[in-house]
Amino acid sequence: MPPDVDLYNHAYGNYESDAYRQVRIETYGQDFGQTSWVTNEESAEIPQLLGLKGDSYVLEIGCGSGGYALHLAEKIGCRIVGLDVNESGVRNANQLAQARGLASLCRFEQCDASKKLPFADATFDAAFSNDVLCHIPGRLGVLTEIFRVLKPGGRMLFSDALVIGGMISHEEIATRSSIGFYVYSPPGENERLMKQVGFCGIRATDTTEHAARIAKKRHDAREKWKEELVTAEGKANFDGLQKFLSCVHALTSEKRLLRYLYLASKAS
Ligand SMILES: C[S@@+](CC[C@H](N)C(=O)[O-])C[C@H]1O[C@@H](n2cnc3c(N)ncnc32)[C@H](O)[C@@H]1O
Repeated sequence: MPPDVDLYNHAYGNYESDAYRQVRIETYGQDFGQTSWVTNEESAEIPQLLGLKGDSYVLEIGCGSGGYALHLAEKIGCRIVGLDVNESGVRNANQLAQARGLASLCRFEQCDASKKLPFADATFDAAFSNDVLCHIPGRLGVLTEIFRVLKPGGRMLFSDALVIGGMISHEEIATRSSIGFYVYSPPGENERLMKQVGFCGIRATDTTEHAARIAKKRHDAREKWKEELVTAEGKANFDGLQKFLSCVHALTSEKRLLRYLYLASKAS
């Protein structure tokens, strides 16, 4: 089913536009081409949580335009493969890797992560996915695949902004889901599935406040750049995305929808 409101094709297709860049800078402070709810603090914490080192080989599922993977490769010196289903995102990511002289460390492939991952067993030291798994059908299958491609002792991290925290109306569910396919889960379900797959050392941190903060900032930054964004994405899409962001802000600030950051390992 095509989404009612298009977030990703516009965000990645207009990646180089000044207005979209300014919206990213005003929302996140640092421009990694983000479309997620990851704050700067969380971006800084992820490499430590995953234990990344210069010789790590890392998988990112749902890399978008690849800015965060490139940042990690530049900062840490690790090798990263990024996968995303969006063609424009993957094209931007490979172009940025070339332009920044990081193509020997980073490569990006268009791939639907609901399918078997195109890697041998025990390939990666770490895997992560920022606000992506909620878009992919079959959570158990995705976690099984991540577990398979991790080396023993490897760590895995993902965030899920669609954990149910309270009462939500059908209208709110429709608005929250207007940008594409989504899976909502009850509290504890991700932990149960990770355990079932074989992960150990499971840790869940409530990061709902990150989604509330980013949704409000993104909404307000887009409002400031409205004229340019309406020209690029059309009035109906602009309004639809503003409604989506207001809905995320309301649901998360009232804790009716929660965002968790999960960390787990594959035993050595
Ligand atoms: C919220 S964005 C997050 C992007 C990036 N991780 C970030 O932090 O900005 C979700 C991403 O998941 C990707 N995605 C959605 N369904 C997917 C699938 N089945 N396989 C791979 N990527 C998918 C989208 O194209 C989009 O880039």
